[in-house]
Amino acid sequence: MADSYDLILKGGIAATPNGIAESDIAVKDGRIAAIGDLGRASAAEVFDAKGLHILPGVIDSQVHFREPGLEHKEDLATGTAGAALGGVTAIFEMPNTNPNTLTAADLADKVARARGRAWCDFAFFMGAAESNAAVLGELERLPGCAGVKIFMGSSTGNLLVAEDDAIRAVLQSGRRRVAVHSEDEKRLRERFALVRDGADVALHPEWRDVETAVTATRRLMRLVRETGRRVHVLHVTTSEETEILAEHKDLVTFEVTPQHLTLAAPECYAELGSFAQMNPPIREARHRDGLWRAVGQGLADCVGSDHAPHTREEKARPYPQSPSGMPGVQTLLPLLLDHLNAGRLTLERLVDLTSTGPARIYNIAGKGRLAIGYDADLTVVDLKAQRTITKNWIAAKCGWTPFDGRRVTGWPKATILRGQIVMRDDALIGAPSGEVVRFAECLAPGDSTS
Ligand code: DOR
Repeated sequence: MADSYDLILKGGIAATPNGIAESDIAVKDGRIAAIGDLGRASAAEVFDAKGLHILPGVIDSQVHFREPGLEHKEDLATGTAGAALGGVTAIFEMPNTNPNTLTAADLADKVARARGRAWCDFAFFMGAAESNAAVLGELERLPGCAGVKIFMGSSTGNLLVAEDDAIRAVLQSGRRRVAVHSEDEKRLRERFALVRDGADVALHPEWRDVETAVTATRRLMRLVRETGRRVHVLHVTTSEETEILAEHKDLVTFEVTPQHLTLAAPECYAELGSFAQMNPPIREARHRDGLWRAVGQGLADCVGSDHAPHTREEKARPYPQSPSGMPGVQTLLPLLLDHLNAGRLTLERLVDLTSTGPARIYNIAGKGRLAIGYDADLTVVDLKAQRTITKNWIAAKCGWTPFDGRRVTGWPKATILRGQIVMRDDALIGAPSGEVVRFAECLAPGDSTS
């Protein structure tokens, strides 16, 4: 008798570890069960994928969905709806919510809030502080925890671990890879006078200048070598840092964002004003070129969106009272597909940056690869679709995107989460069924494999 599956994607071009080639994919019980010519197999549901590419589900390992405490900006339901609409199957949420997620109870609360409301799988970072350094090693092992996040420089919220001694204490507590926002707090304070009494937002990359980022990253590298702790440097923005980080690839991974690969100063501030304001800042074109070089050389390990929405009213405040951050989870993949079509990266590299990379960085269990036995998280894309990104398409509560009106080639056609189609043709389908992402370093004995 022919094999029977829950779902078969037929006739698509699949990005498997063997390369990118036409291949059917079958799903059973939420996992990939067969890959190849499955002409004789039957399934409860058949997805005609002719002319479409099937990628391992996109993992956005840096978003701010703001829950609890900042729900006027975003929440887990709207944030993950945007993720699914943008082809994203898993997100890792940052801890600068209100109150900051510092306790086991806070994490359990976040997981409980996400179940039944999240359109994609999820995990949460614990925020590092001087006060909780000693217990981070325990907290980082809890179910639903993506790891520990350090803010070396202050951004939105009040999480901060600025001094070497405190950073060392955090790095010495626990074992998993630590995610770091690398800007030097001392220099940020010294230079705030540049913008304190009101200034043009175009001065944002002057206040938070190249040296602010480079100084912090050099300090961090010294502490990484001293402690032997693995770190992941978030949203790298300077060409100089990519060269520094290249010296530490045994212990250090790093992220670039679609907005730093797409926008450049000073034009972005002239066009978008404070809607282009984020931390670390969008810088001039030579840095964007440096980040693309890091992508081309295989140095950058992943792309994360740093989805960090603020309302239009908040953004309209005079700089520097205007908050930093922009939405991005939904536009991450369309922007990268457009860059692919412009010849800036290959599809293999795109998959590495959006799926295999995050899985490797964080040791995600059972995701990040189109292979038998892995979760059937699939992002189906039309590489040639020509579309315009509009604010009406954006699910984020803020209702804006810095890319409104941008014409792109390449678009997510469907998002499949552990075998369930949750988005097709720009519409969400069914009910939110997101679950916690599991991590190989923290699987408990007897932990189920699905
Ligand atoms: O621009 C930013 N906004 N950078 C961050 O590090 C935080 C984020 C936010 O939460 O608004």
